Amino acid sequence: MDFELKTLTSHQAASLAADALILLWPDRADQAAVGPGDPLTLWARGAVADQDIEPALASCLLAHRLPGVQPRRLVLVRTGNGSGRTTHQAVTAAMKALAGDAVKRLVLVAGDAEAAAVSAAVRAVSEASYRYIATKSQAKPRVLQKVVVGVADAAAVRQAFDQGVAVAQGVELAREWANRPGNHATPTMLAEAARQLGKLPGMSVEVLGPKDVAKLGMGAFMAVAQGSNEPLRFIVLKYQGAAKSSVPVVLVGKGITFDTGGISLKPAPEMDEMKFDMGGAASVLGTFAALARLRPALNVVGLIPTCENMPDGRAVKPGDVVTSMSGQTIEVLNTDAEGRLILCDALTYAQRFKPRAVIDVATLTGACVIALGGVRSGLFSNRDDLAQALSDAGEAALDPCWRMPLDDEYAEGLKSNFADMGNVAGRQAGAVTAAKFLQKFVGDLPWAHLDIAGVAWKGGAAKGATGRPVPLLLRYLLDEADRVVREPRKARKPASARTARKR
Ligand code: BES
Ligand code: MN
Ligand code: ZN
Repeated sequence: MDFELKTLTSHQAASLAADALILLWPDRADQAAVGPGDPLTLWARGAVADQDIEPALASCLLAHRLPGVQPRRLVLVRTGNGSGRTTHQAVTAAMKALAGDAVKRLVLVAGDAEAAAVSAAVRAVSEASYRYIATKSQAKPRVLQKVVVGVADAAAVRQAFDQGVAVAQGVELAREWANRPGNHATPTMLAEAARQLGKLPGMSVEVLGPKDVAKLGMGAFMAVAQGSNEPLRFIVLKYQGAAKSSVPVVLVGKGITFDTGGISLKPAPEMDEMKFDMGGAASVLGTFAALARLRPALNVVGLIPTCENMPDGRAVKPGDVVTSMSGQTIEVLNTDAEGRLILCDALTYAQRFKPRAVIDVATLTGACVIALGGVRSGLFSNRDDLAQALSDAGEAALDPCWRMPLDDEYAEGLKSNFADMGNVAGRQAGAVTAAKFLQKFVGDLPWAHLDIAGVAWKGGAAKGATGRPVPLLLRYLLDEADRVVREPRKARKPASARTARKR
């Protein structure tokens, strides 16, 4: 799908050849001066004056073959105060009103909408028109091919538009991979997807297999993978947008392509949804796709440990003790707490980059779903500034998170009589104890953990991946690129390089 931003009056927009047109209508437009206008504006004003469109946010009015307007179908939609959030809601509603209609070309008339609204509108159109077809024999691909966004001043909103398109593409890639069933999204296939991304400018990729991972001593990761016939993969993606010496941000994504629970087998109902247990990995892939498009001045490393969690004659058993790459031993009390086992070795691997920050993203705990539901991701961090930056990014990108505590008392339950730690800590505060487990592997690095178990997919009739938290991650990285540019040069280099220069 192709998005194009143009400076257009509503008169010009209405004369474009398209199948449908969406006219954004903020509340403030109700008070706009009456008087002469183009057919589109006169129609909208008339509908508002006659109260033919309800005053509530996201209310729609449909029209058909309006004289003087090229597109056959029109939707007038209320965008409330015209913010990013309300515009996203409104455009989603407008797209729903058009659904079922074969819209190939769409014109979106945004007038003097603020930058955040333009970006939100682009994302909403993309999200609403996505179709999952990979494993359906009859399904038709997305109909929508071309979207022209008409605004009063294209230059003023160009950056927001470009970022909206990039986020939309990243979200779509993440949704697509997360939606694919376990047998169509194996660790090998995820690695292949990463290899494709690696071909884009500024990107490189390295894929490690079982032998490499054994050599590194990733005993915790290997323990999870050993019950499956699918070989594990450890994916290392790199995006270089800044000088080689500039220290990177590391993203780590949980890539369990199917989580049966292992020997601590999960109950049957809804177990199919555990194909989404690589949502963290998918969001890292999506974020890299967006980075390749926007090319910010920042270095980013993406680490994806990916495997299946299966019960088998060779599977890891409750009580087994494994040695992680860090050297710390772990008593695997519950094989269903596998995410932290694959992440801990990836976090140890991350140390070699001496990153400015490492952020792991994981569908880690059912407890986080209970705590925060499907609205906000759980955010954990050992640094206040990093936590604040991620919170702010979440709000700005309409992909919110909420900070959770990391008091050391929460780690009490991880104590083990047979290893340096157990991998579970009882029923209470399960999302926090999982984070405390991960924290044992980050040392003093600035680190954040996003538990996306509640937000990565929707269940029920609308079952499917959301692509979250690609919008949050991308916003954070773009903001971080701005911060890097502003900070003194020497702070961009790893601590080791700085001391080396002193000597
Ligand atoms: N992938 C699950 C977490 C999960 C469960 C995400 C339900 C979304 C919905 C994870 O591997 C897991 O099984 N966690 C266990 C941990 C427990 C054994 C301490 C859980 O949350 O039950
Ligand atoms: Mn599990
Ligand atoms: Zn899992």
